[in-house]
Amino acid sequence: MPGSYRQIDVALGDQAYQVSIGAGVRHLLPELVAATGARRAAVVSARPPEWTPDPGVPSIRIPARDGEVDKTLASVEELCRQFARFGLTRADVVVSCGGGTTTDSVGLAAAMYHRGVPVIHLPTSLLAQVDASVGGKTAVNLPEGKNLVGAYWQPRAVLCDTEYLDSLPRREWTNGYGEIARCHFIGAGDLRGLALTEQIAASVSRKAEIVAADERDTGLRHLLNYGHTLGHALERATDFAMRHGEGVAVGTVFVGRLAGALGRIGAERVAEHLDVVRHYDLPTALPEGVRATDLVALMRLDKKATNGLSFVLDGPAGAELVQDVPEETVLDTLEAMPRRRY
Ligand SMILES: NC(=O)c1ccc[n+]([C@@H]2O[C@H](COP(=O)([O-])OP(=O)(O)OC[C@H]3O[C@@H](n4cnc5c(N)ncnc54)[C@H](O)[C@@H]3O)[C@@H](O)[C@H]2O)c1
Ligand SMILES: [Zn+2]
Repeated sequence: MPGSYRQIDVALGDQAYQVSIGAGVRHLLPELVAATGARRAAVVSARPPEWTPDPGVPSIRIPARDGEVDKTLASVEELCRQFARFGLTRADVVVSCGGGTTTDSVGLAAAMYHRGVPVIHLPTSLLAQVDASVGGKTAVNLPEGKNLVGAYWQPRAVLCDTEYLDSLPRREWTNGYGEIARCHFIGAGDLRGLALTEQIAASVSRKAEIVAADERDTGLRHLLNYGHTLGHALERATDFAMRHGEGVAVGTVFVGRLAGALGRIGAERVAEHLDVVRHYDLPTALPEGVRATDLVALMRLDKKATNGLSFVLDGPAGAELVQDVPEETVLDTLEAMPRRRY
């Protein structure tokens, strides 16, 4: 059984659930499966079989692989076929164990199989623990683009076992900390001095509040994209040599400078963006050889950009979505950023 751990409520009415965070929380799985009333479980895992405890009901184990290349409709179909061969029903449960790519595609399979089977996520990367597994967005990629096919499907529970992170490569830590750093500017408070479990709990808690207020992404949920407009452009401009969290980190420094250039925040708060991102040992400079004009062109393609260039920007009333930011200010701000090789 786990020692002390944190529980965060995602207050979504009859779809409410808890996210448990701490060392050993995976051992809560049988209890949570029992609470769903499921008679059987399909356990889909991208990690070694011993990483998922026995769910306490008859189960099949379906191996999966993390990574964008397997985050496809073909994988979802294959999962659903295995569920069907096992005889899984809507009264049963699906369990996912893996990174955000696995929780996303297993989440979508659970959303679609029999028009929706309960799912419990056991995220194993820091990024999946602080972001991907919480909030009910599920999706897979098409050759035409990332996350183009998906559904809202809230899990019954999420178990963020920090023991999983012991084997996480350094770059994946960076990836997760990019998301934790951006939480500083969207109302989570200063998480810099906290222990890992508390940092994850505070990030999850802020996401839970935002999702509870705007499950279907029509307003407040934009806040979660703090630093992401440039972040996504950097991932694409570098052919994904820059990881998501690295792009978000540089994007966070950039939106601080942009908010400063637009007179929304003062110099001290601009500097705070750099300090926070640096504190987490994250990159702060643009990559060499990528033109500012190319980044602007990519940012115009951003999903959130319904009118011209839009960014989530800090301001006197906190962060908010700002539409139609003048291109010249964006270009000048980009030009003024330091550069380094990635
Ligand atoms: N649904 C959402 O709201 C949401 C939010 C943010 C991100 N996402 C999605 O999440 C995905 C990114 O998640 P990710 O960064 O976890 O990617 P990932 O699943 O590809 O995992 C990243 C890498 O870490 C490895 N890994 C995972 N856990 C490990 C562990 N415990 N030990 C050692 N290695 C481990 C994986 O094998 C992989 O190589 C993207 O597809 C993104 O679209 C979804
Ligand atoms: Zn992100």
